[in-house]
Amino acid sequence: MTDPTPDAWRAVDRYFAETLVGHDPALESAVAAQSAAELPAIEVAPVNGKLLHLLAHIAGARRVLEIGTLGAYSTIWLARALPADGIVVTIEAEPRTAAVARENVDRAGVGDRVDIRLGRGEHVLPTLEGEEPFDLVFIDADKESNTIYLDWAARLGHPGTVVVVDNVGRGGDVADPHATRSDVVGTQRGLEMLGSDPRFDATALQTLDAKGWDGVAIAVVVRCGPATEA
Ligand SMILES: C[S@@+](CC[C@H](N)C(=O)[O-])C[C@H]1O[C@@H](n2cnc3c(N)ncnc32)[C@H](O)[C@@H]1O
Repeated sequence: MTDPTPDAWRAVDRYFAETLVGHDPALESAVAAQSAAELPAIEVAPVNGKLLHLLAHIAGARRVLEIGTLGAYSTIWLARALPADGIVVTIEAEPRTAAVARENVDRAGVGDRVDIRLGRGEHVLPTLEGEEPFDLVFIDADKESNTIYLDWAARLGHPGTVVVVDNVGRGGDVADPHATRSDVVGTQRGLEMLGSDPRFDATALQTLDAKGWDGVAIAVVVRCGPATEA
């Protein structure tokens, strides 16, 4: 057995990605366009994109909500799992980033299944109230707002809605009880909410992939709507 050194786990990630994800010109072109626009390379790793795709498929999702679009790499993975009448509503705060995402989803052939809403998550989410509930919610924006996004996931979902929160490992910092960095504290508050709020049933897994040491939380909404007083 090999110890999980960075070289070893990167080799395993490459092996998984080559064996199970493979070469994908549309997704690679989306990442290339994102890089050409000088956007950060903080999209999910290919194996995690495939995980989102499979979760949407397993959930039989027709309506997906994503918070944090970037160049739409994860959006494309999610949109591809939907039926012809499905939709990914994806929220992005930066207009220039949203424009890159729009071009990428159109080039990838899923533009008709992607609705990009421009604005900060906390402002856009309340405008979605009253729409048909979402079957899957992917939270991948500013970590400081994770509890706000989780609250909206329960309000805008239905019992059975799948909720995925990215980057919950933060290179191990999430386990630091004295953490002061706002992204780490935001991630901790989100996980604590998933563990204690009766609207969710959740777990989290560490990930070692092309993006380093991190983690993903996966939850199901067991009771939808606003939080109730204990
Ligand atoms: C980690 S990236 C998203 C990556 C994308 N989900 C993927 O895997 O391809 C985070 C994105 O969230 C956006 N963002 C940050 N704060 C936000 C906010 N408050 N509301 C909406 N989007 C935000 C950033 O501009 C950035 O594009």
